[in-house]
Amino acid sequence: MIFEQIASGGCRSYLVGCSDTCAAALIDPELSQIDRYLALAARDGLRIHHVIDTHTHADHFSATRQLARQLGASLVMHRLTPASGIDMTVDDGEMIVVGKLRLRVLHTPGHTLDSMCLVAGDRVFTGDTLLIGATGRTDLPTGDPEQLYDSLFGKLLKLDAALLVHPAHEYKNRSHSTIGDELATNPRLQAKDRAAFVELMRNLNLSMPTHLTEALRTNLSGGKTVGQMLAEAAASVPFMALDELLARVQRQEPDLVVLDVRERDAYEAGHIPGARFLPRGQLELRVNDELPDPTLRILTACEFGRISTLAAATLRQLGFQRAVALDGGMKAWRDAGYPVQTGAAP
Ligand SMILES: [Fe+2]
Repeated sequence: MIFEQIASGGCRSYLVGCSDTCAAALIDPELSQIDRYLALAARDGLRIHHVIDTHTHADHFSATRQLARQLGASLVMHRLTPASGIDMTVDDGEMIVVGKLRLRVLHTPGHTLDSMCLVAGDRVFTGDTLLIGATGRTDLPTGDPEQLYDSLFGKLLKLDAALLVHPAHEYKNRSHSTIGDELATNPRLQAKDRAAFVELMRNLNLSMPTHLTEALRTNLSGGKTVGQMLAEAAASVPFMALDELLARVQRQEPDLVVLDVRERDAYEAGHIPGARFLPRGQLELRVNDELPDPTLRILTACEFGRISTLAAATLRQLGFQRAVALDGGMKAWRDAGYPVQTGAAP
């Protein structure tokens, strides 16, 4: 078996491949690591046929949808997932066939109702059901400590003690553990009595993960994260550096239009000298009157450089082929000590 573990912060993804057939599956891929997965698969000579989420993630942005689209791969989740657009749902006792590899599905609800573990050869991918020295939490949507108890003690921990454990999270950089190690040393598994385990899980008092609502929204629907929207916009427009713009403003270059896309009070409090005012919220409505010449070189500016990126991408979509965004925003412009003009637009 070809095996790659990919870390991104506390998240772990896994690329597993069949060396005879070059078929591969990707388990719990994360959005920010797409290029890395594809590079590893290419380096190892693998073609990814399945992209698998072990459960509905509330704390990371899943890359399964984008990869499934991009690679023509099958998006796989447990049949109880509330997510839409799954290509192949699987259930307990079934297998995902990857060349000569077999990934056997164990339904292990508890962290979420749709949680599953995958057994492949000498190892088990435990998702957030079992972590090294911990378990998944049970206080997020569809979590249930009673079910987690049954999944762990009634199912997962009954597997061969020598099986390697590969979880979806690891915060101390350990590569793996084993079922036997976890049974012996995992503090949460020492409460072997159901009531004591449930009591322990109910009193963890964990803080909510960051990006909870955005992760659930996008992972369930296939909608885009704000970061994806910005990255797509940034890939479609060029940028100009602050000092480059300063030099051009000072030369009063005639063919450069600086467009401030913030709200009126921000514009009037201080804008780039000569900048025109057209707030992002009114861009499409007023563009025909305000910017009749599509051959203009238009540079968009906002406070932090994000909304201006979206605005420049919109202008390019509208046919302003020379639209460009400022690399940075008015905050960086002011912090650099560059000149500002105050007052209403002429
Ligand atoms: Fe999770």
